[in-house]
Amino acid sequence: MNKNIRDIVKERYGNIAKSVGKTKTNSCCGGSCGCGTHNVFGEANYSLKEMRTLPKEAVEAALGCANPHKLAQLKLGEVVLDLGSGGGIDVLMASKLVGEDGKVFGLDMTDEMLELANRNKLKMDVKNVEFIKGYIEAIPLKDNLVDVVMSNCVINLSSNKEKAFEEAYRVLKENGRLAIADIVRLKDVPEDILREETLWSSCVVGALEINDYKRKLEKAGFKNVQIEVVHTYSKEVIDELMQDSKENQELAILNKYKEEFFDIIDNSFGSAYIRASK
Ligand SMILES: C[S@@+](CC[C@H](N)C(=O)[O-])C[C@H]1O[C@@H](n2cnc3c(N)ncnc32)[C@H](O)[C@@H]1O
Repeated sequence: MNKNIRDIVKERYGNIAKSVGKTKTNSCCGGSCGCGTHNVFGEANYSLKEMRTLPKEAVEAALGCANPHKLAQLKLGEVVLDLGSGGGIDVLMASKLVGEDGKVFGLDMTDEMLELANRNKLKMDVKNVEFIKGYIEAIPLKDNLVDVVMSNCVINLSSNKEKAFEEAYRVLKENGRLAIADIVRLKDVPEDILREETLWSSCVVGALEINDYKRKLEKAGFKNVQIEVVHTYSKEVIDELMQDSKENQELAILNKYKEEFFDIIDNSFGSAYIRASK
């Protein structure tokens, strides 16, 4: 895997984890964007009922692009793995749904995110949750262990998605379910923009094109792959997200590509639900 991208992603999410509870602005998919005005990122994807029992810091740390629980339909007693669990919002929600006889693993590579998630676990006082350190491309769990692999806005960050899919398949039980919310690419985008590391770590240009996503899942062995686009990001949304960030790297990209950037990026990416089974 490209070490550079992984380190950039780790640093970005480490900084976001450290800022939770300290800044007012919510952030999405990499903290580059103030999501307060957008109803497609982070906590906006969850109902008040879903959030009611969760610690405030878990909700504030939500960095997802949809709500994988809408697909996962978890049942009592199930074993669940959340890939790239961040501050733990989806894991902690899952812990209630699978109950005391179930088990939920949250996997993340970033120490600061794991610390935040473990603090949130303590606040919720749940016993059926374990946050583990590791990479989604080398899941530290045994074969055929889990009923459901879920994930929210993480696969796009991986520079070895094939390996991540193989690993998800390996740890799933026979007939196990994959329930992913992720960013997908909807149109061709020039290579130089796809190589912008800042846009990769903020969950944009690492996204797979839909047919490629499906092909890669099938190659890993998944059946019944279905991909449903739920939000498309217009240039206005991307513009607002990037301007909100006021981070030098984003401003450098805006200066480099000027207005052309927004015409290219307009409706080129969106969030999607991805379902499949083993
Ligand atoms: C956009 S955040 C999403 C967090 C969480 N799923 C949510 O919805 O709030 C991405 C998370 O994935 C983790 N991550 C990114 N790439 C990873 C990888 N290759 N292996 C493990 N964790 C990864 C990051 O550390 C970060 O916590």
